[in-house]
Amino acid sequence: MEYIIETENLTKQYGTQRSVADVNIHAVKGKIYGLLGRNGAGKTTTMKMLLGLTRPTSGEIKIWGTPLYGNEKKLLPRIGSLIEAPGFYPNLTATENLDIFATLRGVPNRHVIKDALDLVGLPYL
Ligand SMILES: Nc1ncnc2c1ncn2[C@@H]1O[C@H](COP(=O)(O)OP(=O)(O)O)[C@@H](O)[C@H]1O
Ligand SMILES: [Mg+2]
Repeated sequence: MEYIIETENLTKQYGTQRSVADVNIHAVKGKIYGLLGRNGAGKTTTMKMLLGLTRPTSGEIKIWGTPLYGNEKKLLPRIGSLIEAPGFYPNLTATENLDIFATLRGVPNRHVIKDALDLVGLPYL
């Protein structure tokens, strides 16, 4: 079975508190998954680890079969993400916001910005 996201005993500890403990995810292509849990269950921390925004204390993450850590530059440009709130700059245009994200993520092909804007019917400005 080929997994899009695979984790093995993914764990994050803040001080003495284990916020995420031994999580094993096996997400297959073409399926939609949800993380369910009460406040403080560790959903956001899990997402942050999957996106390389915080380091796991222990455990493994593979995206498309490739270990995330050490391969961020290859993997992260292929992932879209939005955690809790959209982190856009309200004083900039959609194009300018996408341009900043594309730069931060190392997206080499700027045509994707126009393509994305066309898709949702926004002008390129
Ligand atoms: N940066 C941090 N430093 C210390 N504790 C944190 C940090 N981020 C989250 N936590 C703690 O980790 C636990 C899981 O939090 P979180 O992943 O935000 O849960 P959820 O998104 O499921 O509500 C909570 O107890 C939270 O207080
Ligand atoms: Mg959360």
